[in-house]
Amino acid sequence: MAAPTRLVVLISGSGSNLQALIDAANTPALPSVHLTRVISDRKNAYGLTRAAAAAIPTTYHGILPFRAAHPASEPAARAAYDAALAALVLAESPALVVCAGFMRIVTPAFLDPLREKAVQVINLHPALHGDLVGAGCIERAWAEFELGKRQRTGIMIHYVIAEVDMGEPIVQAPVEIEGCQDLPALQERIHEAEHKLIVQGARMAIDALKK
Ligand code: GRF
Repeated sequence: MAAPTRLVVLISGSGSNLQALIDAANTPALPSVHLTRVISDRKNAYGLTRAAAAAIPTTYHGILPFRAAHPASEPAARAAYDAALAALVLAESPALVVCAGFMRIVTPAFLDPLREKAVQVINLHPALHGDLVGAGCIERAWAEFELGKRQRTGIMIHYVIAEVDMGEPIVQAPVEIEGCQDLPALQERIHEAEHKLIVQGARMAIDALKK
């Protein structure tokens, strides 16, 4: 029997998408996986608590020591941070990294060492490919809906490249805005859809690795 697929999950916040992966792991929805470590760029991310409750090792990887080491250059601090993050990830010998609400923009200093080891990186983004990129997409979609400029938005799981949120999509799902009374209602509708799609997208990425 093949060894379980090793996954590292990157988070920044509440970790509800991480929780979806934890709940689905080693069920028919996401078979034969081993979540080896959860890494957060924020010390107080509740997702770290969720990981610990599931007996998954955790690491807090903060930017401050790298800024202290490179006080004159934020790009140098980010490159050093990303190189250290890549080393943390590669120490787990994962097949796949899942960015589950990870709010940092990763640079080639992170992506290149992983590519050299054929480690794939996928990301959950709360918009359709090429529609809205960057942070605040749910809020922007809601604002455009209120102006009558759009009726729907969506979410996607995509491969991560240096260009933010522009990597090839693995799976996407439209989300109708119609019927949401306010922004929180849309956020809730999107998060519910995310919790399904992140499991489906991770499964598809793993299946693609095995081809
Ligand atoms: C999700 O909406 C994700 O799309 C966005 O941040 C949120 C993460 O939520 N990038 P959680 O930390 O998984 O609960």
